[in-house]
Amino acid sequence: MKYTVLLLGSGGREHALAWSLKKSAQLKKLFIAPGNPGTAEVGENVHLDISDFNKVWNFIQENEIDLTIVGPEQPLVDGIANFLEAKHHPVFGPKLQAAMLEGSKEFAKEFMRRHNIPTAAYEVFEQDDFDKAADYIRSQNKYPVVLKADGLAGGKGVFIPETEDEAMGVLEELKTSSSLKEAASKLVIEEFMVGEEASVFAICDGDSYKIIGNAQDHKRIGEGDTGLNTGGMGAYSPAPVVTDEVLQRVESEIIEPTVSGMKAEGNPYIGILYCGLMITENGPKVVEYNCRFGDPECQVILPRLESDLLEIIVACTQVQLNTVDIHFEDEVKCCVVLASGGYPESYEKGKEISGLDTVEDAIVFHAGTRAENDKILTNGGRVLNIVGSGKSLESAIKNTYKEVAKIDFEKAYYRSDIGAKGLRH
Ligand code: AMP
Ligand code: GLY
Repeated sequence: MKYTVLLLGSGGREHALAWSLKKSAQLKKLFIAPGNPGTAEVGENVHLDISDFNKVWNFIQENEIDLTIVGPEQPLVDGIANFLEAKHHPVFGPKLQAAMLEGSKEFAKEFMRRHNIPTAAYEVFEQDDFDKAADYIRSQNKYPVVLKADGLAGGKGVFIPETEDEAMGVLEELKTSSSLKEAASKLVIEEFMVGEEASVFAICDGDSYKIIGNAQDHKRIGEGDTGLNTGGMGAYSPAPVVTDEVLQRVESEIIEPTVSGMKAEGNPYIGILYCGLMITENGPKVVEYNCRFGDPECQVILPRLESDLLEIIVACTQVQLNTVDIHFEDEVKCCVVLASGGYPESYEKGKEISGLDTVEDAIVFHAGTRAENDKILTNGGRVLNIVGSGKSLESAIKNTYKEVAKIDFEKAYYRSDIGAKGLRH
């Protein structure tokens, strides 16, 4: 059978998903809503407000879509998988009860507590109980301490104050911040874990799972992991910190109990399970779960995938994941994010991008771009993802930066140390 597929989303992750789906022999036609100028090269972009599920459903019916794949977390946490499943339409992505692993930090922490999944020690406080939160922080008297808004906050809901004064300042800010008010209706206070971060991805059909790669992201805006948190400034895959032994522990102590725990609680997990990990001296612990592929981690994992992504996803939606194999090429991939100067705070848009057609030896995934009169302009904070490869991490990094240097726009910014951490292994 051949499939007409609708992919939801518009970032670099969705360009990588579209690029990978396009290679499938089982693909009849690919629509991306709303997509970006990069996805327009591998499928047909559709002007569609994906937060309006009825409009999505009308499009699915009118275009005889066989399968919908959801890229970003927001529609999943808003219940798009529940909505489409109720229409008997095959959808790849967890239902909202399972997407709560990302949608609510409190839910995720209590789930891990119930199932003995290693993670940082924590307490949860209501917004009105910020005094109790302050008392708790003072009584623990251990810094840094980690404060997290319970709900989705686009990577802006995590604070790591280093002193009591700073921690009290964060509490004060959360009380008054209009942008975080809803996400921070509850507050999770966590022990700070020491170690190296990495992410491991599992694809799940509700019943079983398979590993679909690992990567290391670079979340901070500045070189040497300094400055504000971002959505991710670069990544590489595979990550040497995820040794065979670490991976075995991640599977047996984290992924297996997560998938079987969700199933046992009546919320079978279907989709990509993103395990954000801290590899501590006592083994891997969960920093966070996400209910979708990482961005930019997806951009370094899918180009390594030799198996047919569409075939794997279809098998998932049919609870047949055990019938497919997932294998990767040996090459290492490195992704550098080209961002608008000022990101993750305010930045300008509409800058013309030059040099795209001179890139020879890398894949360029679009994120925050738009097309206008045959030109590609910047249209977001994270603008482009340049993905190079090599036989070793060292050569992947070198090859990637050689191509990054060819692309430019006014106030373009990128980190020049993507992958450096991996070279220390
Ligand atoms: P999150 O959105 O939960 O992934 O948090 C954002 C970033 O904050 C993570 O990528 C870590 O770098 C850091 N972080 C979060 N929780 C902890 C923790 N308990 N210990 C140390 N670092 C943390
Ligand atoms: N790169 C981090 C994320 O996708 O959440």
